[in-house]
Amino acid sequence: MGREDLKLRKMNNQDIPLVKIWLNKEHVRKWFGDPREWLNEIYNRESQYDWINHYIIEYEDKPMGFCQYYDCSKTGEGYGWDNESEGTFGIDYLIGDEEFLGKGIGKQIVNKLTQMVIENEKPAQIIADPLEGNSVSRKVLEYNNYIWDDLKGLYKFIV
Ligand SMILES: CC(C)(COP(=O)(O)OP(=O)(O)OC[C@H]1O[C@@H](n2cnc3c(N)ncnc32)[C@H](O)[C@@H]1OP(=O)(O)O)[C@@H](O)C(=O)NCCC(=O)NCCS
Repeated sequence: MGREDLKLRKMNNQDIPLVKIWLNKEHVRKWFGDPREWLNEIYNRESQYDWINHYIIEYEDKPMGFCQYYDCSKTGEGYGWDNESEGTFGIDYLIGDEEFLGKGIGKQIVNKLTQMVIENEKPAQIIADPLEGNSVSRKVLEYNNYIWDDLKGLYKFIV
């Protein structure tokens, strides 16, 4: 796979029906939880949630997943990440289309997303919080040099 095969581009309104389908798939719901919460953030991404940066992932020009990043200091209390140090950014990612699972693309997505956050935001650290049983996501993070912080229960990439 060439690096140019994988692209992250800003999400737009036409993407939402597809994202909704992905969020409702069993292999995603299992780890992402209630699709309505994610969709609420997406619908309000230019107002209340303008601190979340939403991207569509394209593989060979086909939309197949979505990812996002955000400044943890803007999340507010409900998310529990607002007590992280200055310059902390959080990431989330999913492959929606099953056809693309288990082919090493997840590793490349986290690589690209991490590089994008570094270029756009000059962060001090990037964090991710896969659920305990999500061993595939954990492997993807470890492959990209994210380190498990036992105290916080998070993966961290120190820039
Ligand atoms: C997490 C996710 C992005 C990983 O992407 P992926 O392209 O399927 O994963 P990769 O092919 O890059 O594989 C990563 C590792 O997991 C292993 N793996 C992949 N699928 C697997 C499976 N079904 N069972 C066991 N191991 C698996 C790979 O062999 C690889 O291991 P290695 O590092 O030892 O070689 C993808 O599975 C996904 O979107 N899952 C649903 C949403 C989700 O969980 N998002 C993350 C929330 S924190």
